[in-house]
This record gives sequence, structure tokens and C-alpha cells, in this order.
Amino acid sequence: MAIYSRISGTGSALPARRLTNADLVHLLAARGLETSDEWIVERTGIRARHFVDDGVNASDLALQACEAALTAAGCPLSDIDLIVVATSTPDMVFPSTAAILQHKLTQSALARGEAGATGGAAFDVQAVCSGFIYALTVADALIKVGTARKALVVGAEVFSRILDFNDRTTCVLFGDGSGAVVLEACEHDGTGAGILATDVHADGKHTGILCVPGTVSGGQVLGDPTLKMDGQAVFKLAVGVLEDAARAVLAKAGKAASDLDWLVPHQANIRIMQGTARKLRLPMDRVVVTVDQHGNTSAASIPLALDQAVRAGQVKSGQLVMLEGVGGGFTWGAVLLRK
Ligand code: ACO
Repeated sequence: MAIYSRISGTGSALPARRLTNADLVHLLAARGLETSDEWIVERTGIRARHFVDDGVNASDLALQACEAALTAAGCPLSDIDLIVVATSTPDMVFPSTAAILQHKLTQSALARGEAGATGGAAFDVQAVCSGFIYALTVADALIKVGTARKALVVGAEVFSRILDFNDRTTCVLFGDGSGAVVLEACEHDGTGAGILATDVHADGKHTGILCVPGTVSGGQVLGDPTLKMDGQAVFKLAVGVLEDAARAVLAKAGKAASDLDWLVPHQANIRIMQGTARKLRLPMDRVVVTVDQHGNTSAASIPLALDQAVRAGQVKSGQLVMLEGVGGGFTWGAVLLRK
């Protein structure tokens, strides 16, 4: 019997403040910029997104998502011995958002009279929109080698903080949110629920097509701390590498695309998702789509979409599910699992 890691619970969180495309039309008009619901929907499929209020950080959204995932898994926080947070919008330069989250989870549990989670490993993963795929890959590996038994794997983002609202080509695309899963060790012969294959990649020569080029030095922000993107270059690269990663995990697990019950892709843009589905000859009714309501929430988008699909009764136990993501770096990857 080999050790696998399996998802035993999912959770997600969205800020209460919801902005429709019509709200963005007004917001940008006040800055002398023109956009329209038609342009945004036709180019991206996005109709609404959520933004945090001042003072709310990635760890606050992650806290809600994790507590929902722990409840769904029936897992006490004290069992958790690993927390991996994928984020490009951390609470601080350091410590990690994962360490901050561990403390917030513990405080919340203690307030309910339950035990906290202290002493287990906690760290962040930075792979932009592929972050959750990277985080799941790392947590799966740590469980397989016996370093951890039960992990919280989280995507949490407050992208509204790094958008340039004077750049209509990018600020209409993104939103804030968090998604989390409880990942736990289980033993079987390869036929049970669990992560069957992972595949992650990066190619740093594409840094410039999607980045936040600013940094912090000498007590000041140096450079521009807002998101820059060459949308067409990203689009062209994304569809190709997503197909490669999808085919790689299928091959590793000895499966075909036609075996998939669900594809849960990174929610960047409906046209990228349609392009990937076409290449895999997968009908769109087997693709989980939430980009219309959330926009692109970067590392949070895949676990957010997964949680919504699980809670809506779409993704069920025993089904074959592929998660896949692509993002700044350029980074990309996929995870194939039996729910
Ligand atoms: N409202 C109205 N008009 C706009 C807007 C807007 N918000 N933004 C740009 N335009 C205009 C442009 O100025 C341009 O006008 P012009 O022809 O007069 O110069 C016109 O629309 C077309 O602009 P393009 O940039 O060529 O538009 P394109 O069809 O490429 O769509 C988009 C842009 C949606 C960003 C597209 O390139 C895309 O989907 N790229 C993929 C990138 C993506 O999804 N990134 C998400 C983050 S990356 C990730 O998660 C992997």
C-alpha cells in the first residue's frame, strides 16, 4: 500500500463588496477612462468581482476559507501539521501569510474553546496564478514522504491592492478571494481517492509580460508596484502550456482526457478556458466556470472554483478531476486527482 494525499474538505471566502461591470464603468469614468459591460464580457466572460475593504488582508480571507474547509473535512485544527499559502499579495514582506494565518486560526479556535495549531510547518508559495497548483504539488510531496499527515493548502489574494485603476486593460480583470482544501494522508493501491499526478513548470524569460515590477528598498517602494500585463502575449502562451500540462498529468496517471469528469481551470478568462477545453476535446459542460462572478483571483481562483463546484453538487466523490493553472513567471502546471 502506498501513501497518497486526498482532499477531504474544501472551503472558500469572498469579500462582501461586489462590483459589477456597471460599477467599474462608473469608477473608471470618474478617472476619464471608458469601458463597457459589453467589452469586458465579450473579451473575458467577467461580469462581477469582489474587492476587500481597507484593513482586510489575504490572511483574513484565508482564515474564513480554511475554517469552512476544516468543517467540511470534519477535521479539528489541532490535527493540521502543515499550512501552505499560495499568494502574490501577502499581508507583509515577512513573515509569511501562512504563519500569520496559523496564528489567526489558532486564536479563532481558542476563542471557541478548541485547540489551536502550533508548531507545524507554515510557509508561502509564490507562483502567481499557478500558485495553488504549486502549493498542492508541494503539500502532496510532503505528505507522501511522511513529513506531514494533514495539511491546509490555501490560495488567498487581494489583487485589488496591486491594480492600476488608470489602466483599463488590466484593472477590469481581477478580484479578491480565497479558497482552501484540507489535504490528508491515506493509504491505498492507487484505486482510491487522492492526487494521482502533478506537473509544474516555469520559464523566467517571460517575466516581463506579466509582473508587478516594484520592490521595497530603504523604506520606500522602488519602481511601479502595480500589475503590468501584455494581454495578447499572455493569451498565446497560456493556451499552449495548459494543454501541455494537462496531457502530462494524464500521461503520468495512464488516463485520457475523455476519462475526465471535470476540469477546474484557473479562472483568468473564459476564452482561455474554452481554448483549453477545445484542445482536450472536452465539452464546456465538464468545465467549472466561476470567472463570470469572481474575475481573476489569481492563486485563489482554482480552490474557489473547486469549492463552489463541490458545494453545488457538481464535483462528487469518486470523480476524476483535473486542476490546472498558468500565471506570471511564466509558471504553469496541473494536478490530476480522484475526488
Ligand atoms: N474597455 C474598453 N476597451 C478596452 C479596454 C477596456 N477595459 N481595455 C482595452 N481596451 C481597448 C484597447 O485600448 C484596444 O483599443 P484600440 O484597438 O483602439 O487600440 C482594444 O480594446 C483592443 O485591445 P487589446 O489589448 O488588443 O484587446 P484584446 O482583444 O487582446 O483583449 C485581454 C485584452 C482581454 C486582456 C486579452 O488580451 C486577454 O484575454 N489576454 C489574456 C490575459 C489574461 O487573461 N490575463 C489574466 C491574468 S494572467 C493569468 O491569469 C494567466
